[in-house]
Amino acid sequence: MEKVAMMIKARRLFKDTTDLPTLPAIVSKVVSMLDDPEASPDDIADLMLSDQVLAARVIRVVNSPLYRTSSAIMSVKRALIFLGFKSVREMILTSYFVDGFKNKNQPFDMKMFWINSFSAGAISRHIADQVDYPDIEKAYLVGILHDIGKVFLGHYFKDEYGQMLTSIKNTSFTTYEAEYEFFGTTHCEVGLCLAQRWNFPSVYSDIISYHHAPEMATEDPLLTSIVALADFYCLSHVSSGCFAQASIPGLAEENAWKIFTQLVPKPPASSLEHFLSYLDEEYEVISREVDLLFNTMTT
Ligand SMILES: [Fe+2]
Repeated sequence: MEKVAMMIKARRLFKDTTDLPTLPAIVSKVVSMLDDPEASPDDIADLMLSDQVLAARVIRVVNSPLYRTSSAIMSVKRALIFLGFKSVREMILTSYFVDGFKNKNQPFDMKMFWINSFSAGAISRHIADQVDYPDIEKAYLVGILHDIGKVFLGHYFKDEYGQMLTSIKNTSFTTYEAEYEFFGTTHCEVGLCLAQRWNFPSVYSDIISYHHAPEMATEDPLLTSIVALADFYCLSHVSSGCFAQASIPGLAEENAWKIFTQLVPKPPASSLEHFLSYLDEEYEVISREVDLLFNTMTT
């Protein structure tokens, strides 16, 4: 598949959409400040307080069962100190993304989509933690966001996407392959357009763009391979909902495994097959976190 031609098609699909959810400017500003290790909690808290919706959202999530605080946290600055900049960045981006597409009609079960996304995020974070990847929050966030292109295609091309999903039921086609046949592009290229529109950091955009072709990733090949493996595990072993995913690893997963084992000093398993079984053993614990995430972020 020719990436340049697929990008041109994706940009064309984007051109005609006028009511794209936007990330409020204040949120983009807060997120980039949270990325700056030199920024002070006071300055960030002041900026967050200038948007009451944002401030209220952070207070609500920090007091949810997801973070087991011993007493109620009622100030934004305390939330920043309690959770740390990276976790707050992760929480804000996730909740705005969920919110942006919350009430959009889809030809697939959105609950299933979120469960898959939160599972991929939680598994990516778990793998990242196991191999001492330096930013496990980033692994979590990009794991959640990697398939955003599906939400865009499903909403703005609802009938075609619905027909496409129906047409591959009980066939060996994957959703990714079918998207290419129907649209001449896939959720990866469309997701990249969306990530650029929302000014996501370039590493997020690169992973969204290449999680089905991890050998082409340039920004962070290790994290791309982690997300690709987590994504495959979720869709083939947890639940794919109405999305179609081969149950046997294909070229993309083999490549992801190769990159992963080349870049990780001590992989947690000796082969891709063993690695998938290892994730199976871990999933019971991870799934409890997924339920909490789902309840916190979607209510
Ligand atoms: Fe995908």
